[in-house]
Amino acid sequence: MLTTRFTELVGCSVPIQQAGMAGLSPPRLAAAVAEAGGLGTASVYGATPTEIAALLDTLRAQTAGAFGANFIMRFVDPALAHECVAIAADRANVVEFFYSDPDAALVEIVHAGGALACWQVGSREEAVAAAAAGCDFIVAQGIEAGGHVRGRIGLLALLAEVLEAVDVPVLAAGGIGTGRAMAAALAAGADGVRVGTRFVAAEEAGAHPAYVQALIAAEAQDTAYTDVFSVGWPNAPHRCLRSSVEAAQAFLGEVVGEGLDRFSGKRFPIRRFQSVTITETASGVIDAMSQWAGESVGGVKRVQPAAEIVHELAGDAEQLLRRWS
Ligand SMILES: Cc1cc2nc3c(=O)[nH]c(=O)nc-3n(C[C@H](O)[C@H](O)[C@H](O)COP(=O)(O)O)c2cc1C
Repeated sequence: MLTTRFTELVGCSVPIQQAGMAGLSPPRLAAAVAEAGGLGTASVYGATPTEIAALLDTLRAQTAGAFGANFIMRFVDPALAHECVAIAADRANVVEFFYSDPDAALVEIVHAGGALACWQVGSREEAVAAAAAGCDFIVAQGIEAGGHVRGRIGLLALLAEVLEAVDVPVLAAGGIGTGRAMAAALAAGADGVRVGTRFVAAEEAGAHPAYVQALIAAEAQDTAYTDVFSVGWPNAPHRCLRSSVEAAQAFLGEVVGEGLDRFSGKRFPIRRFQSVTITETASGVIDAMSQWAGESVGGVKRVQPAAEIVHELAGDAEQLLRRWS
């Protein structure tokens, strides 16, 4: 059993958090991960307070395990921000934040609701600020990560800096798609790992099949760290498949396809270079949409149930770590 300060704090049996990934982390994915002993996560930004409550109630009905609610605050209406966070804190075990400066007022609301607070950070300074804001644990995100990337240096270098600077448990994120990489992060001192890209290919994620096939075909060197997919979220570096950058650049036209808003149920045009998560409801030129992928993509070999991914990562990591103990 891989027991860490993180598993004890959150009440998980394995030190793995599935990343919140907008429409690619629906309640059924978070529930499957929680049932497998990890920390499942649902994304709730962009939703009204009523929608957040409904989504998290649906998730709770599917599992008694631990799950988190993920916010990217720039997509939350400032007038509703405190209410949204309070509603999430009443229902989730963990409320977590990404891509804004750590904020003690938000952490206080999380604690008042009885949940744990977490911030995903990309630097030592941001980690210190998150701990000072009262976060119960922190995610250190290296530049290898898929999706939007806060980290500017490699995960191991970042971990070394962050672990020396804060006392709270730290999860490692970015490029972890195998038990080997998970074992390395734990051996380096992390209390657990956050995994995104591997779970895009989980059965329960509902990613578009063409996107999943592109992930299966790709290796780490096929990803690009870029800011090309800036429509809707400018000045925010991200990592995705290089082929999707090239296809978007070669695409002639303003609109590459259509997506479905998971909360309003309305279809919307996906513009060239728009930052979107490609669910199975998307239509159009999927190859030219933002195909988020971390350097962990080499670990994506097939579509699998989420529980199998959790057990495979934890089992392989444990076996490798046992060799050294
Ligand atoms: C498709 C995708 C969507 C993501 N969306 C979010 C998000 O909404 N919120 C967030 O905090 N992180 C998000 N991330 C980043 C993850 O939290 C995490 O840092 C990253 O997935 C770790 O690297 P990996 O993909 O190599 O496992 C996303 C990552 C991916 C791959």
